[in-house]
Amino acid sequence: MTVLAPGRNVVLAGMMGSGKTSVGRLLAERLGRPFRDTDTMVCDELGASVPEIFAEHGERGFREAEAVAVRAVSAVKGQVIAVGGGAVVDPANVTALRSTGEIIVLDAEPAELAARVTAQEGSRPLLAGVEDPIARLGELRGQRHNAYRSAAAVIFDTTGKSPEEIADEIIAWAVHRPGLLTREEREA
Ligand code: S3P
Repeated sequence: MTVLAPGRNVVLAGMMGSGKTSVGRLLAERLGRPFRDTDTMVCDELGASVPEIFAEHGERGFREAEAVAVRAVSAVKGQVIAVGGGAVVDPANVTALRSTGEIIVLDAEPAELAARVTAQEGSRPLLAGVEDPIARLGELRGQRHNAYRSAAAVIFDTTGKSPEEIADEIIAWAVHRPGLLTREEREA
C-alpha cells in the first residue's frame, strides 16, 4: 500500500468579512481535509471569545496567542486553514504558514466587508464602537494592503460572489499549483 503525502495547506487570509471561514469550510468539505481556524484555536486555548481576549489581554495579548496558534497549525500539512485578518501582518506568521502551505488572500470592497461583518455584530473588537464601519474597514484594508500583497500567492476578489463561487475559483487555481493538492483531490 502506498501512503500518499498530504498536499500543502490551503491558507485563507484577508480582511474580516472577506469570507475566509465560510469559504474555508466549503473547501475543506470538498477536498476532504480538516478545517482549522486560528481565531477558534486562540479562543479554545484561552477559554474566552475574541472580544473577551482583547478586553482582558489587549490586542497585543491576542496577537501573541495568534502567533502560537499559527505555529501550531503550520506544523501539519493537508489542512484548510483560515487565519484572522491581522495574522499575516506579522512576517513571522507568513514564514510559518508558507513553510507548509500557500497563502490565498480573499478581498472585497469595504461596503461588502461591512455588510458581512455587521451580520455578526459584536464579534470584531477592532470595530467596537466604530461609527462608520465601511470607512474603518477601508482604512484597515489600506494599511494592510502591502502585507496582504506580499504574503499572497494569489488574491481573489470576492465582491458580489457566493462562497460556492469563490471555492470553485480557488480549486480551479489550486489544481495547477505543484504540491498543493494531491492527485485524489485534483480528480475529486
Ligand atoms: C482581526 C480579525 C478577526 C480576529 C480579530 C482581529 C483583524 O478575525 O482575528 O478580531 O485584525 O482583522 P476575522 O478576520 O476572522 O474576522
